[in-house]
Amino acid sequence: MSINWSQEEYIKAYRFAAQKHQGQKFPGTKISYIMHLSFVSMEMIAALNEEKERDENLAIQCSLLHDTIEDTDTTFEELEAEFGLPVANGVLALSKDSSLEKSLQMKDSLQKIKERSQEIWMVKLADRITNLQAPPDYWKQDKIIRYREEAICIYETLKDASSFLASRLALKIEGYKSFINSDI
Ligand code: NI
Repeated sequence: MSINWSQEEYIKAYRFAAQKHQGQKFPGTKISYIMHLSFVSMEMIAALNEEKERDENLAIQCSLLHDTIEDTDTTFEELEAEFGLPVANGVLALSKDSSLEKSLQMKDSLQKIKERSQEIWMVKLADRITNLQAPPDYWKQDKIIRYREEAICIYETLKDASSFLASRLALKIEGYKSFINSDI
């Protein structure tokens, strides 16, 4: 079996992300935030094994860098200089625009993702698959319900980018029901 992505490009993006997210913890835990990036890139690598004709370095680098603009001091220009324009554009599309009202941010981001190539759609699918693990203890039921509904919207909007990731996300959405209290 051959791979069409470069370990060196993976290491470069992982190292950059690890430095930028340094000190951040995974919500509700004391675990380093980069666990999330490891999971998202792992989902992507599994998907790339099935989906052909993708720019695999773009897909993997964006999976590792997808939260740098939104959650760290990283700028678009910095990403462009380090990783090139397609990666910078991809990460920007995957970032919520904090100048918008919160309720509009996801819809706006999904619209921007749809304007990008399928590799970027795949990052969003992989991100939400990863985020549908057990929610933090402090999340209230209405937040959990909204989060699942948002996942359904992501699935409906982006499922055509990868049947592999789409079916995995569908399973996670189904399983997430177990975190919803049926007697409310
Ligand atoms: Ni993420």
